Amino acid sequence: MTQKNHVPVLLSDYINGLMTDPDGHYIDATFGRGGHSQALLDKLSPKAHLSAFDRDPEAIEVGQKLEKEDARFSIYHTAFSGLASVLDENNIQQVTGIGFDLGTSSPQLDTAARGFSFRQEGPLDMRMDHQNSKSLEDKLERVSETELVRVIREYGDERYAGRIAKAILKAKHDDKLHNTTDLENCVYHAIPKRSRFGNSHPATRTFQALRIWVNDEYQELETALLAAIDALATGGRLVFISFHSGEDRRVRDLIEKEINPCTCPRDFPMCVCHRKARMRWIQKKPIRASETEIEENPRSRSSLLRIAEKV
Ligand SMILES: C[S@@+](CC[C@H](N)C(=O)[O-])C[C@H]1O[C@@H](n2cnc3c(N)ncnc32)[C@H](O)[C@@H]1O
Repeated sequence: MTQKNHVPVLLSDYINGLMTDPDGHYIDATFGRGGHSQALLDKLSPKAHLSAFDRDPEAIEVGQKLEKEDARFSIYHTAFSGLASVLDENNIQQVTGIGFDLGTSSPQLDTAARGFSFRQEGPLDMRMDHQNSKSLEDKLERVSETELVRVIREYGDERYAGRIAKAILKAKHDDKLHNTTDLENCVYHAIPKRSRFGNSHPATRTFQALRIWVNDEYQELETALLAAIDALATGGRLVFISFHSGEDRRVRDLIEKEINPCTCPRDFPMCVCHRKARMRWIQKKPIRASETEIEENPRSRSSLLRIAEKV
C-alpha cells in the first residue's frame, strides 16, 4: 500500500474526469505519495496500465513499492518535461489520459530539511529533486537584483517585489541569510506594516515564487503539456489540479491556444494558416473543493481542477 501522509485533493473529480476507458493506459505525471494513482488503479481493469512520474526521489521510493505490488503500474524518476522521451524509450505510442496534480506534496512542505516552508527552520533549498538541480542558496549566489525582482513579481504576484528582492540581497551580502527563518524574517520586514496582515502569511507569495524559480515549474509545465497533447489518443483526457491562480492561468492559456490555434489576422475573411484545434474543454470553469473537503483537508482550499479532451 502507498503511504497516506499526503491526502489527495478532488479525488473523485480527478478520476471521473480522467477515466474514459477502464482498459486504457494512463499517466499520473505527479505521483507524490500515490493517492491519485492508487484510486485510479482501484477503478482500472486487469488489462489497464498506469505509468507514473515524479522528480522527487522520496516519491519514487513509494512508487517502487507499489510497482512491486501491482504489475499494472510503472514508476519513472524524471521531471514531467521528460514525458515524450519516456514514452518514446518505452515504445508507448498513445495514452488514454494524463493527470497533473501540480505543486508540492505535504511531505515536501512538512519536512523542514527540504526548505520549502517558512513555518519551520530549514536550509535554503526548495528543490523537488534534491539530487539533480541547484538549490535556492546556489541560485541566490548568482542572481541579479533585476532578475530576483522579476521572479518575485511574476511568479508570486507580489506588489512589493522590489523591496523584498533588495532586502534578500542585502541580508545575503551582510551574511544574515542562512535558512528559511532568516528568509521569512527578511520578507516580513521588507513588506510595509500596513500590508503585513491579510488571509495569508506575508511571506507566502515570495516563498511560492522562489520555489517556482528553483524548480523551473512554468517551463516544465509548458513542455509537458505540449508533449501530453501529442501523446493523447483522440478522446483522451488531460486533468490538471493547480494550487494558485498563476499556475491555473498558464494551464488555461496553453489549452486555449490548442482550442483556438488560428494565427490569421482578425481582419482576414478566412483562415489561411489552416491550424486545427487539437483540444476541447470538458470542464472549462475550474472545479473547487467542497466545504467538507476543505474542512477535512485545509490544503485543498486553493485547488482548481480543469479537464480538456483531445479531438
Ligand atoms: C501535489 S503533489 C502530488 C500528490 C499526489 N497526487 C498524491 O496523491 O499523492 C505534487 C508532486 O509532483 C511532483 N512534481 C512537481 N513538479 C514536477 C515535475 N516537473 N516533474 C515531475 N514531478 C513533479 C512533486 O515532486 C510532488 O511529489
